[in-house]
Amino acid sequence: MSGDGEGIKGCPGKEPGELFRAGRLVKVCAPMVRYSKLAFRTLVRKYSCDLCYTPMIVAADFVRSAKARDSEFTTNKGDNPLIVQFAAKEAQVLCDAARIICPFADGIDLNCGCPQRWAMAEGYGACLINKPELVRDMVRHVRNQIDNPGFSVSIKIRIHEDLKRTVDLCQKAEATGVSWITVHGRNVEERHQPVHYDAIKVIKESVSIPIVANGDIKTLKDAENVHHLTGADVADTLAYSESKDLPQTKNPEISITEQVSC
Ligand SMILES: Cc1cc2nc3c(=O)[nH]c(=O)nc-3n(C[C@H](O)[C@H](O)[C@H](O)COP(=O)(O)O)c2cc1C
Repeated sequence: MSGDGEGIKGCPGKEPGELFRAGRLVKVCAPMVRYSKLAFRTLVRKYSCDLCYTPMIVAADFVRSAKARDSEFTTNKGDNPLIVQFAAKEAQVLCDAARIICPFADGIDLNCGCPQRWAMAEGYGACLINKPELVRDMVRHVRNQIDNPGFSVSIKIRIHEDLKRTVDLCQKAEATGVSWITVHGRNVEERHQPVHYDAIKVIKESVSIPIVANGDIKTLKDAENVHHLTGADVADTLAYSESKDLPQTKNPEISITEQVSC
């Protein structure tokens, strides 16, 4: 793990929670394996991206191995606010990872949305949407052991086919103290199908914390529309080439997440 972490935390006006409370369009770079590393984050921050995530990092490897930390995480003074996304399935392991990263980041995010077969088989990612108690324990552990109320603890989920289960999950997470929930509006089986914005709207109406709607937003206009449709703080993938505010690229896989505060 490397980086000049001094000054990253507590940067005035840049605490993630403040971004949500500011009531204006906030641009967020989504967690993307292989892409959302320091160089990419540095680039998108130059183009008015307000909040960046790292790619998903397996918390157990991060805790166990200095080599894993060195290869998975690099930061610098300008790299804030920064959310480090972990894959985890044990509360203490997530907590240990959070304690290591705390001086270098502004919050952690628990991945409960990755639908990849390897992740699900290991008990990571989207299989956690079926384990609300475990999610609650993990969030609670981090909350109890990180002595910094400004340090955010968020989760990113996919939806269930039975939406009541997602609402239950989100309400339990809210009661435990998650800072916000990013909802990718597809279920575990869905890849490129239309996003269920109606489901995100129901979730938004069932909790009081910020909900970040995620999935299938290509332009700022899309983000505004989804914000309007769902009432959520909107987040999603914005292809650079389609946004006036962002650098041009021919790589369709390079994308940012867009979020709008309600
Ligand atoms: C290349 C790539 C890598 C991704 N890696 C992650 C990841 O590490 N963690 C995560 O929560 N989501 C990851 N995602 C999902 C995105 O954060 C986002 O939820 C998704 O791209 C939105 O759906 P859409 O692409 O249909 O708009 C990844 C997506 C892509 C395209």
